[in-house]
Amino acid sequence: MASAKKPLDLTGLTVPQHVAIIMDGNGRWARRRNLPRIAGHRAGAENLRRIINACAEFGIKILTIYAFSTENWERPEDEVRGLMNIFTRVLDQELKDLHRQGVCLHHLGNLNGIEPALQKKVRDALELTRNNDRLILNVAFNYGGRAEILHAVRQMLADGVSPDELTEELFSSYLFTAGLPDPDLVIRTSGELRVSNFLIWQAAYAEYVAAPEMWPDFGREELYAAIVEYSKRDRRYGGLSQKS
Ligand code: FPP
Repeated sequence: MASAKKPLDLTGLTVPQHVAIIMDGNGRWARRRNLPRIAGHRAGAENLRRIINACAEFGIKILTIYAFSTENWERPEDEVRGLMNIFTRVLDQELKDLHRQGVCLHHLGNLNGIEPALQKKVRDALELTRNNDRLILNVAFNYGGRAEILHAVRQMLADGVSPDELTEELFSSYLFTAGLPDPDLVIRTSGELRVSNFLIWQAAYAEYVAAPEMWPDFGREELYAAIVEYSKRDRRYGGLSQKS
């Protein structure tokens, strides 16, 4: 029997507009259960639904998830193949529901090098959901922060941008997140304390929360706890505290 949802009070809390998550710990979650690593990734994919629902419930407007990094190609071939199969299956099985829920999908990263059939599914999904506005879901897939910056610089050079024109705003407009506000809160699950090439430009002033749970165990209540933690932070953007 599904347990009743515990009421979670947001009164007095600052809900971040844009939350970004490094979904770490799938492999360890599986190993602790004597399961193959891919079972952890499957559990991680299922967990996404809980977190998307929780974001909608809490009023988070943008969720960015780190699904596959440019470095993840170094993993064993069967794990990479297994992950690609999961992405394909999630698009096949969940897209209609995501669309119905008003989720607008964005892709951060490079589709080159991805199997053509999966590339097409991603492009079709972006097209289908482009006018939705309940939650923007950025999926960083074949994504690396440094590669993103190089991509932006190449594009600016190709466009003939002159040094005098270059501002932070213009630079941001060449990133995969163009037009979106920067993340307010970056969460990394599994207790690790690394940035791992994730949104290295955009998260310059984000607050970081390291959640101890492995990603498949990071649910609605854990997201709420991260918001409580975020609400206690004094964001100074390099200036002085409002309170001082
Ligand atoms: C990190 O855990 C997780 C990943 C590299 C993959 C994340 C992918 C998913 C959650 C699958 C579903 C995603 C979508 C968008 C459908 P890890 O394997 O590095 O864990 P470990 O550090 O314990 O080994």
